[in-house]
Amino acid sequence: MLLFFFLVTLLGATTAQAGGFDYPVITNQIHLLRPKLGAGGSFIDGVSCLSWRFGVETNNIIDWKTVPEECEDYVGNYMLGDQYRNDSQVVTREAFRYAKSLNLTNDGKNVWVFDIDETTLSNLPYYAKHGFGAEPYNETSYDEWVAEEKAPALPESLKLYKKLRSFGIKIVFLTGRKENTRTATENNLKSVGYQTWEQLILKPSEYSGTSVEYKSGERKKLEEEGGYRIVGNMGDQWSDLLGTNPGIRTFKLPDPMYYIS
Ligand SMILES: *[C@@H]1O[C@H](CO)[C@@H](O)[C@H](O)[C@H]1NC(C)=O
Ligand SMILES: *[C@@H]1O[C@H](CO)[C@@H](O)[C@H](O)[C@H]1NC(C)=O
Ligand SMILES: *[C@@H]1O[C@H](CO)[C@@H](O)[C@H](O)[C@H]1NC(C)=O
Ligand SMILES: [Mg+2]
Repeated sequence: MLLFFFLVTLLGATTAQAGGFDYPVITNQIHLLRPKLGAGGSFIDGVSCLSWRFGVETNNIIDWKTVPEECEDYVGNYMLGDQYRNDSQVVTREAFRYAKSLNLTNDGKNVWVFDIDETTLSNLPYYAKHGFGAEPYNETSYDEWVAEEKAPALPESLKLYKKLRSFGIKIVFLTGRKENTRTATENNLKSVGYQTWEQLILKPSEYSGTSVEYKSGERKKLEEEGGYRIVGNMGDQWSDLLGTNPGIRTFKLPDPMYYIS
């Protein structure tokens, strides 16, 4: 017990950041989570939470509602530690290399589609207070968080966004956030460094289909009606990347906190 408090104090005093995010609430939590964990985390259904996360990221485990209770600390530790940031960096670096290799026709029609939540903006400060996805989704409290416009940028994605723009690729944000959050979303994007974009597509509030259907339909419109070429498409959910008009290449960022079909 004494060692535990010693660790909390020591780490709390020497670590300024967690997962690249300067949020005091997060910095405190990682140190509370860390002492509870072994290397692979706890076990669920006889496999480690690390294996569960692998199943989730590969889209073999689908349609799950919440993070298994046994894996809450494991997922929390993953999200707040280096691994999440490093895994994200592998994805954005690969995207950068690919974009750089393209011989683009400079006709203003090349676009990169970015999802927003857990792709360009991070809701980790919210999820850190709500069990890292282990608590059932609460629309009321989540909407309140979005309205605060306080979501930090995912640092690796912001770097990629800037590089893509320097290559002359236009940015389209395609998000499951609803149309009534447009002002809050625009303010939040701009305040963390995403200064400009070609289009910000939000979901009509009455839309009742799946995310795959909605996003596919919007990408189809971009290509067929807008005459754009989707050279890249990046999201944290498989539903950002599956379906029609996916883009020439797709890039999947990590997200073990929730599943959207
Ligand atoms: C993350 O990357 C940094 C910098 O390369 C490295 O020092 C650190 O060990 C990595 N952490 C993990 C968990 O991979
Ligand atoms: C891009 O153009 C350069 C120079 O013309 C050429 O060497 C290269 O193979 C092209 N790359 C692709 C992917 O077409
Ligand atoms: C959802 O969040 C609201 C607003 O914070 C809160 O009042 C309510 O009790 C929460 N609902 C549940 C089921 O936790
Ligand atoms: Mg997302």
